[in-house]
Amino acid sequence: MYRYAQKLHQLLRSLLILSLITATNAQAAQKIDLIIDTDPGADDIVALLFALASPDELNVRALTTVAGNVRLDKTSRNARLAREWAGREEVPVYAGAPKPLMRTPIYAEDIHGKEGLSGIAVHEPRQGLAQGSAITYLIDTLKSARPHSITIAMLGPQTNLALALIQEPGIVQGIKEVVVMGGAHFNGGNITPVAEFNLFADPHAAEVVLKSGVKLTYLPLDVTHKILTSEARLKQIAALNNNAGRLVGDILNEYIKGDMEHYGIPGGPVHDATVVAYLLKPQLFSGRSVNVVVDSREGPTFGQTIVDWYDGLKAPRNAFWVESGDAQGFFDLLVERLARLK
Ligand code: RIB
Ligand code: CA
Repeated sequence: MYRYAQKLHQLLRSLLILSLITATNAQAAQKIDLIIDTDPGADDIVALLFALASPDELNVRALTTVAGNVRLDKTSRNARLAREWAGREEVPVYAGAPKPLMRTPIYAEDIHGKEGLSGIAVHEPRQGLAQGSAITYLIDTLKSARPHSITIAMLGPQTNLALALIQEPGIVQGIKEVVVMGGAHFNGGNITPVAEFNLFADPHAAEVVLKSGVKLTYLPLDVTHKILTSEARLKQIAALNNNAGRLVGDILNEYIKGDMEHYGIPGGPVHDATVVAYLLKPQLFSGRSVNVVVDSREGPTFGQTIVDWYDGLKAPRNAFWVESGDAQGFFDLLVERLARLK
């Protein structure tokens, strides 16, 4: 009898392990249904090429554009350029908010150039914008989506999603998670001593998204400033010897100058592309669930993200805060994907 029970136990244990492996593989094989909200922007373009070069894992349903690094007409043109360079002109581009919810608009032409694309020449892309605003697209798509099925990558100010949430709070039903490039805690800010640009450009929008209760992950300066270019990494990109490699190399060589000078560091961050790497290979990154509050009061802390890293306040943990990442693993993955493009 005992031997029978032992055999049965072993069989059940094997079945459990097998079912866990199957479930994990199924999860891993499951494509991410993705909307990318973006203000291209030099690092946005790198992120868009990265994502559009990864169709096996990312089903990029649309790009939605917002004013941020430069004005909306230019961020929208640049998003159209990215999909043309990636050979993915079937992906629709919807233009969204031309200005933040409440504050006066700010831009970053000093960093990204007048056309929003440092280091390269731009042209009018072949394919135009999709009909309708990005806010309407987000509302229609998220309202009708399967429950919690769509991931949103936010690479600029969060104005579009905030407007959609204000107009139609029920769209949270369609959102699987929101992954944001933005914020700063340990690192300090890049537009003020405490605020990062995307949050500073529209803190009220970030508050709306935080308060919506969606599953939220932040990739702040804390991690993007640990994933820096270097001579060797720029050589890796140049060695691709394709158009995508040349574009990214030319963009980054110009774009990183500002940060290298400002911080006195040997390389520059590729902020937005870390969001794509996180979606493709989350194991490259580490962080913890924390309580985050955005300061939208006028004053020296406007746009600051206040992170309770040690849970001192015992407040609800409303975001996963990514604090570190594998820099070489990031660049190896980026280069491997850019190699797939023309
Ligand atoms: O602070 C970096 C962020 O601000 C990036 O998204 C960059 O594109 C700018 O929008
Ligand atoms: Ca951006």
